[in-house]
Amino acid sequence: MPRSANKPPANAVAVGDCIDTMNAWPEACVDLVFADPPYNIGYQYDQYEDKRDDHDYIDWTNRWIDACVHLLKPTGSLYILIGDEYAAETRLHLKALEKQHKLVFRNWIIWHYTFGQNCRAKFNRSHAHLFYCVGPAAFQKHTLKTLPYAFNRDTIAVPSARQTTYGDARANPTGKLPDDSWYLRPQEAMEDQPVDDSEWLFDPDGDTWYLSRLCGTFKERLGWHPCQLPEALLERIIKLSSNPGDVVFDPFTGSGTTLAVAARLGRQWLGCELSDEYAAKATERIEHAAETGETMQTTLFDKGIERGKPKKKAEPHRSPHLKKRTSKKKATSSRKGSTKPKKGE
Ligand SMILES: C[S@@+](CC[C@H](N)C(=O)[O-])C[C@H]1O[C@@H](n2cnc3c(N)ncnc32)[C@H](O)[C@@H]1O
Repeated sequence: MPRSANKPPANAVAVGDCIDTMNAWPEACVDLVFADPPYNIGYQYDQYEDKRDDHDYIDWTNRWIDACVHLLKPTGSLYILIGDEYAAETRLHLKALEKQHKLVFRNWIIWHYTFGQNCRAKFNRSHAHLFYCVGPAAFQKHTLKTLPYAFNRDTIAVPSARQTTYGDARANPTGKLPDDSWYLRPQEAMEDQPVDDSEWLFDPDGDTWYLSRLCGTFKERLGWHPCQLPEALLERIIKLSSNPGDVVFDPFTGSGTTLAVAARLGRQWLGCELSDEYAAKATERIEHAAETGETMQTTLFDKGIERGKPKKKAEPHRSPHLKKRTSKKKATSSRKGSTKPKKGE
């Protein structure tokens, strides 16, 4: 599709294919992109079946990443969350883009989550890959004080061991940057409390909080989208890599997590979503966040769950032909907090 200069809407989720939509918008118009694409592992979304052949999926991935780069300001930041299956191929494309001076790769972050799916004959998966890049302004000469992209260190700094354990007078009183394996701690995310006493997210006597996938019982989990991310994950990214008033863009809006956090942190928000139903519900969630400054929450009753057990009407699930291969029991766990199993497990 030829690129044109149609202005993107302000504070809206565009319904349609993200590649066509992004390429129809002018270049360099967003400050932060966060992308959490379908992982090609067989989920059945409302309007998209997550099952392409390898070549097709990789080609599609490269095309939507290129479209994101087209939209990103030279001073912007780009984050991509991806599973094991295509992390290597995605990283290679980012390397190629860096060689063309279109972005600069900064970190390969591992997000360690808890309550992953229980596997029987291999190790349980408990991580996803988060690629952090910045726009090409980073190729220009700069110092730590003149970074050409948003990097609000103090908004996400954590207490260092020098401060908490060794009482070292030389410790930086503002703490330290988190490592590139992300275990968010309780003081960084308090939204995910379960609505019953089934599971707690951290040991109250410990100082490490393993940011959980969103389990079905959590108040934050809305229950109508299979892959809702925890807001705490996005909060760290948006605080660090954007400023109030900046435009935060999510090409795969889903349940609206990125944009809800952006809205409650005073950023402008923009998204794409193939499903008009998801887009409408996400918009409701995002507007709630913008108006109240709070995370939308649900009760077990709202979700049709009683004492932690799903009633007849389950949350959305994976493709029927893939489902056949799994047991009924397995169909209660999933990637990123959905109630579905992952391919081959
Ligand atoms: C992994 S989910 C995103 C979940 C989201 N991060 C959240 O927290 O709710 C991927 C989403 O991409 C949407 N999608 C799939 N193909 C798309 C396309 N070509 N353009 C726009 N959205 C698409 C799916 O409908 C699905 O909602």
